[in-house]
Amino acid sequence: MNERIDQFLASQLNQLKIHNSGRLIAAMEYTLLNGGKRMRPKLVYATAESIGLDLSVADHIAAAIEMIHAYSLIHDDLPAMDDDDLRRGQATCHIKFDEATAILAADALQTLAFECLSQTTINSSTIVKLIQNLAKAAGAPGMVGGQMLDLEAEDKTLNIDELQEIHSKKTGALLQSCVTMVTDCDDSMNQDKRKHFKAFAEHFGIAYQIIDDVLDVSSDTETLGKPAQSDLKNNKSTYPSLLGLDQARNKAKDHIDVAASHLASISHSSELSQLLQLVAKRTF
Ligand code: IPE
Ligand code: IPE
Ligand code: MG
Ligand code: MG
Ligand code: MG
Repeated sequence: MNERIDQFLASQLNQLKIHNSGRLIAAMEYTLLNGGKRMRPKLVYATAESIGLDLSVADHIAAAIEMIHAYSLIHDDLPAMDDDDLRRGQATCHIKFDEATAILAADALQTLAFECLSQTTINSSTIVKLIQNLAKAAGAPGMVGGQMLDLEAEDKTLNIDELQEIHSKKTGALLQSCVTMVTDCDDSMNQDKRKHFKAFAEHFGIAYQIIDDVLDVSSDTETLGKPAQSDLKNNKSTYPSLLGLDQARNKAKDHIDVAASHLASISHSSELSQLLQLVAKRTF
C-alpha cells in the first residue's frame, strides 16, 4: 500500500506544478515524498478494506491525512518547536531549505490536504463530513491544540491525565480520523459499530505516541531516522519521564489490548489487527 499512496501523493503534487514550480513545491515534495512509515495511510486502507469502501475514495482520505501529518512534522522540527535537524534519515525541511520556506511549504501542504479531500469521488454531503472531521482533528481541538499543550508542558511535571490529553490530541486525533473518516463514508453503519471503530482508533493513537516517547529514550538516532533523546533535550513531559520505561511500555500495551478488544467486537479484519501488532512491535 505504501507504493499506492506514494504514487497518489506524487500525482497530487504534479498537478500543482502546472501553476507553480521551484522552491516551494520542491520543499513540499522533499517532505511529502520522503518515505516515512505511512502508518496513517495504512490505517485508512485497512479500515476501508474492512468495511468494503472503494480504494479510490480511500486514496483521497489517506493522502489528505498524510499531507496534514507532513506539515505537522515540518512545524514540529522548527527551532521554535522541537528544534530537530533530522527527519526520516534526512535533514529536516528547514535545514535543507530555510525556515521561511519550511513554514510556507507546511502551510501549502495543509491547504492541499483540503483541496484533495474536496475532490473525493463520493457524494458532496459526505465530502462535507470528511472536511469537518479532518479540520477538527488537525486544528485547535486536535493536533494543533495538542502541540500547544505539549510546548506548554516543557519543564513541568504533569499528571497522567494531563499527559494523556496531550497525546490524544497531538497524535491520537489524526490517527483517529484515519478510521472515522472511512466510517463516515458508510451511512448505513450502526452507531454501536461506529463507536467501536472510534474507540479502537483512539487507543491505537495513544499507544502510538507512548511508543514514540519510549523509542525516543530507548533507541538511537540511526534506527529512528530522527534525533534520539529529543524529548530529554527539550525537557518534555512524556510517559517514560513520568512513569519510567517499563511502566510506559506497560501503558502502551494496555492501550493496544483495549484497541484489540474493540476491534474484536466489530471486525474480523486481519489487516487491522496486523497493523495493531505492527504498532505494538515497532522499533522506529
Ligand atoms: C511521528 O510520526 C510523529 C508522531 C506523531 C508520533 P510517525 O512515527 O508516524 O512518522 P513517520 O511518518 O513514520 O515519519
Ligand atoms: C509530534 O510529537 C506530534 C506531531 C503532531 C508532529 P513528537 O515531537 O514526539 O514527534 P517526533 O518524535 O518529533 O516525530
Ligand atoms: Mg513535538
Ligand atoms: Mg518532535
Ligand atoms: Mg517523539
